[in-house]
Amino acid sequence: MRTPAKNAARDAGLDPTRIPKHIAIIMDGNGRWARQRGLPRLAGHVQGYATVRAMVESAIDLRVQALTLYTFSSENWSRPKNEVDGIMRLIAHAARNELDELHENGVRVIVSGRFDDLPEDVRAELRHEMNVTKDNNRLILNLAINYGGRTEIVDAVRAIAAKAANGELKPEEVDDELISAHLYSPHLPDPDLLIRTAGELRISNFLLWQIAYTEIWVTDVLWPDFSENDLIMAISDYQKRVRKFGKTADQVV
Ligand code: IPE
Ligand code: IPE
Ligand code: MG
Repeated sequence: MRTPAKNAARDAGLDPTRIPKHIAIIMDGNGRWARQRGLPRLAGHVQGYATVRAMVESAIDLRVQALTLYTFSSENWSRPKNEVDGIMRLIAHAARNELDELHENGVRVIVSGRFDDLPEDVRAELRHEMNVTKDNNRLILNLAINYGGRTEIVDAVRAIAAKAANGELKPEEVDDELISAHLYSPHLPDPDLLIRTAGELRISNFLLWQIAYTEIWVTDVLWPDFSENDLIMAISDYQKRVRKFGKTADQVV
């Protein structure tokens, strides 16, 4: 079992009482990392997997409660077949190989996305991983796989419409809370901090509903190069922000 330093956050110069509870990451730049080295794109994804391992450990040490990682978007199916197949193999391999360590460290793995459209072997590994880790609560690791923010809202609206059609709920009962409760991972709080690596200033169909008031931090660092130090920089920047939620600054300080 991993035993983090008593106060990894304080040691890093962070305020341990203001660690974001839920961090979401758009892990971008694997392809560019590989191209810079004259390697196939898949080599970038393999190196990106190493970063995921390190970031899960850092999140545990810093006492982050939930980490959502954009692993494969609903739009990423349109990449070349060998890249898509390679990423799917990597996801299945990671689910199998990391299971024992994640479980020992109290990590609960969940998946957000259209699960049923994933290849059967990938589904089987993920299902097993989710099942084994289901009672853990030190860190929730939410893997967004075959995930699209619009698709998630479409799926929620369909479920709500079905309930309305069979009389289970009335249209006037539809509110923010009800919609949140029909998303892929309804028990997760909205992310406090969204990190995007590799510099693009866009959301790329990630967590459209949940990021209404999330703080955003973008770095040019490519995901395979992203380190604990970068994570600490992002959290440090987050801790300097005033989250106003529509109020005036005077009202919130
Ligand atoms: C992100 O890295 C990983 C996935 C989308 C699966 P990219 O593969 O998008 O890397 P770039 O944007 O081409 O550098
Ligand atoms: C977003 O990255 C998806 C993931 C990180 C899994 P993309 O590389 O697919 O995003 P775009 O195409 O640059 O917007
Ligand atoms: Mg990209």
